[in-house]
Amino acid sequence: MRIGSAVQYDRYGDFDVVELVPQERPDAGPGEVVVEIVAAGLNHIERFLREGKLRDHIELDFPARQGVDFAGIVRARGEGIKDLRVGDEVMGHAPNGGSHATWLAVPRSAVIKKPEHVGWEVAGGLYLAGCTAVSVVRGLKLGPQDTVVITAAAGGVGHIECQLAHDAGATVISLGSARNHDYLRQIGTLPVVYGEGEEERIRAIADGRPITAFIDNHGESRAEELAERLGVAPGRFVSSEARRDIEIRFLRAPADDEEPRELLTLLAKAVQDRRVQVLISGFYPFEYIVEAYEDLAEMKSRGKVVIGMQTVETGARMDWYRSEKARDLRDRYADARGSDTETMAGGSTS
Ligand SMILES: NC(=O)c1ccc[n+]([C@@H]2O[C@H](COP(=O)([O-])OP(=O)(O)OC[C@H]3O[C@@H](n4cnc5c(N)ncnc54)[C@H](OP(=O)(O)O)[C@@H]3O)[C@@H](O)[C@H]2O)c1
Repeated sequence: MRIGSAVQYDRYGDFDVVELVPQERPDAGPGEVVVEIVAAGLNHIERFLREGKLRDHIELDFPARQGVDFAGIVRARGEGIKDLRVGDEVMGHAPNGGSHATWLAVPRSAVIKKPEHVGWEVAGGLYLAGCTAVSVVRGLKLGPQDTVVITAAAGGVGHIECQLAHDAGATVISLGSARNHDYLRQIGTLPVVYGEGEEERIRAIADGRPITAFIDNHGESRAEELAERLGVAPGRFVSSEARRDIEIRFLRAPADDEEPRELLTLLAKAVQDRRVQVLISGFYPFEYIVEAYEDLAEMKSRGKVVIGMQTVETGARMDWYRSEKARDLRDRYADARGSDTETMAGGSTS
């Protein structure tokens, strides 16, 4: 029997509650597919969930599994599944968590086919940040008449919002550190350094255009005041809390909820057509899940932080791809940390 591994935690807490436990391949129940995960995204909201900060919204059953975004290969299909075959490449969401694992059994309706030209890392990290970004931008009904300010613009959610807003024809003023400005220009936005003096800098770059909308990803009280001073109508300010509520909704969206599937399909097509380009800020081997979360918590991401799994089952035409990439990274980490470094799974990285 092939043994994989899954992230699990048995109480609320910091990174120290996270463990990698052995996982056997689950069976596919009626209407389900079993996916071998190739790549899976990380999201702040899942850290908040593990830390117990979302208990007013979601009460966990322990032991809890982690991870909502994923892309992978169908390894088994349950009774009634006719439109997917073993070996098909899919992407989707885990309605009850659990994508930070070797395998995931999910209802068929929680996956879509992965477009051929969307890379594994991008497909694996697209769901939550992407659906949140689409939902926020759609909610504002942006068009060519709009000038929108977006904070944390180079982050996992922000960089997708920027591109969607630009695609809708809006002028986008992106707040970010100077090191991100070349990138923010490349995606068609007008970058501005945040912090003291930002209001003047925003007005200067707006060059007389009225600011009609404001998306605050970062979440500071000053953002709402800033939006007010810039003349943004209250209904056109999206607070960080409003964004969090959207994320929570997608985090636990049931598999038969049509909206996530619709949004993910739309996003995957936009990525395939290169209308949205998703950056991968960090790509970590699965055993380095804690390091990957630490990276995310640094709050300096340019795009998404994603984990890549090791090959467990063989024979997939993509096996070479993920084993090469994940192994290269793992070896690089092992070199940097010393070849006898213990992994979370208890093995050696050498
Ligand atoms: N309200 C909530 O409950 C809630 C829910 C989810 C996420 N969030 C927050 O939303 C933010 C973005 O989310 P994400 O998923 O896109 O995360 P992310 O990918 O980690 O965002 C990273 C971005 O945050 C920016 N940033 C860091 N410190 C900042 C500051 N002091 N002011 C403005 N921007 C700052 C960075 O910009 P530079 O590198 O350009 O400096 C970086 O590009 C995060 O701060 C996250 O904690 C809040």
